[in-house]
Amino acid sequence: MYKLIAFDAYGTLFDVYSMGELAEELFPGNGQALALMWRDRQIEYTRLVTMSDPDPRGSRHYLPFWELTLRSLRYCCKRLQLPLHAHSEQRLMDQYAKLNGFADSLEVLRSIKAKGLSTAILSNGSRDMLSTVVTANGLTPYVDQVVSVEDVRLFKTAPQAYALLLQNFAVSKQDVLFVSSNAWDALAAKWYGFDVFWVNRLGHPFEEIGERPDFEGKSLSEVLAAL
Ligand code: LAC
Repeated sequence: MYKLIAFDAYGTLFDVYSMGELAEELFPGNGQALALMWRDRQIEYTRLVTMSDPDPRGSRHYLPFWELTLRSLRYCCKRLQLPLHAHSEQRLMDQYAKLNGFADSLEVLRSIKAKGLSTAILSNGSRDMLSTVVTANGLTPYVDQVVSVEDVRLFKTAPQAYALLLQNFAVSKQDVLFVSSNAWDALAAKWYGFDVFWVNRLGHPFEEIGERPDFEGKSLSEVLAAL
């Protein structure tokens, strides 16, 4: 019944918390705290720039996600009083550029393509960084289009960001299943009008506001049962 299966990138296909291991090597005892705070601050910055100027032509405060990722890393190191030397910053950002995909990312995309359905990534990530991480993980043959919010200069959860899928594919809202491990992203996509699959790897509770996701599973592979 769905024609397009669209995936969030960071946290959903690619494991952002794996950054914790390198962070731990660089800052023993603080790796996990840094990885968690970094992710939160990165997303907070996307919301700050978007909400402060939600102009449909794009926020004048917009900075590419790569840049927000770097700035949030610098902020968190200051906040945690961790000395971020240039070579450490470079190592962390280099690893972020080529984050490992989850074990089932490739196989799930391949299986969806084998069913004759369209696949997309819809991400806050900037075009360059998405291209690098998708290529590094060998996903290119199985993703029809990598869609970046860079085209609207408004980050998710702005509705203009989700609307990009309808502009890039000849589908309507009800043809789309949106897959995200980020509960806030799944909720916003649901509010936008897509059916959603929430990948809940960590057994977290869903948000206490809004509608429930249409599907929930512990891994990406469970998406296949919803098709
Ligand atoms: C993304 C982040 C928000 O890829 O997970 O859009």
